[in-house]
Amino acid sequence: MGKVIFGNSVSLDGFVAGPNDNPENGLGGESLFRWYSNGDTAVPLAGTDMVFNVSRASAELLQEEWGKIGAMVAGRRMFDIAHAWGSKPPGGGPCFIVTHHPPQEWLKEGSPFTFVTDGVESAVAQAKQAAGDKNVAISSASIAQQCIKAGLLDEIHIDLAPVLLGGGVRLFDNLGVTPIQLEIVRVVQRQGITHLKYRVVK
Ligand SMILES: NC(=O)c1ccc[n+]([C@@H]2O[C@H](COP(=O)([O-])OP(=O)(O)OC[C@H]3O[C@@H](n4cnc5c(N)ncnc54)[C@H](OP(=O)(O)O)[C@@H]3O)[C@@H](O)[C@H]2O)c1
Repeated sequence: MGKVIFGNSVSLDGFVAGPNDNPENGLGGESLFRWYSNGDTAVPLAGTDMVFNVSRASAELLQEEWGKIGAMVAGRRMFDIAHAWGSKPPGGGPCFIVTHHPPQEWLKEGSPFTFVTDGVESAVAQAKQAAGDKNVAISSASIAQQCIKAGLLDEIHIDLAPVLLGGGVRLFDNLGVTPIQLEIVRVVQRQGITHLKYRVVK
């Protein structure tokens, strides 16, 4: 069985998106993502038409991690902001969207999305089943928070961008007061970005 991992680019003050993220503006906080285009090594994102140009060293890390992804779980805001990734969800595997209101236009034969209305635990269980030996990637802040609280998350991968955004979508909100212990697995400093990998101690 693979792991359940969360990975995002995060500002030093803990934001995964700027204050005005919405379907018109995209993610906001462009400085979070500069490292995706500041290098000379192209890394295509499986399942999509997106190609990132990062340093060679970051490319090796991305290829290693992305190659292990078998399914993705995201929240409805991410789905809407990304315009359903043009019907090509990142990773190329099954994609589970947690929502209270499945969009009728995507409930059709051949849709790459499964809409999960009975919570994060159900979404992760379905994604694990679909991913087999590969990992489940969590890509939304609110879903990551719920996974951490439910003890579902195995690893946190932070691409730490050298910026203080000052506002936006905070990654580690709503966790409650209990300390969550992490073990440092990897710290790698590369061109314009620091790659951090933690194991959640259970
Ligand atoms: N920095 C990066 O690398 C990176 C990468 C990806 C995304 N992002 C950012 O991450 C943000 C997305 O995370 P987010 O936390 O804002 O939103 P989100 O997790 O994508 O979506 C939240 C929405 O999902 C639905 N939902 C969540 N939990 C649910 C549950 N248990 N049951 C039913 N529905 C549930 C609800 O929508 P409904 O009630 O409407 O159904 C909720 O409002 C965006 O700002 C995006 O830009 C950043």
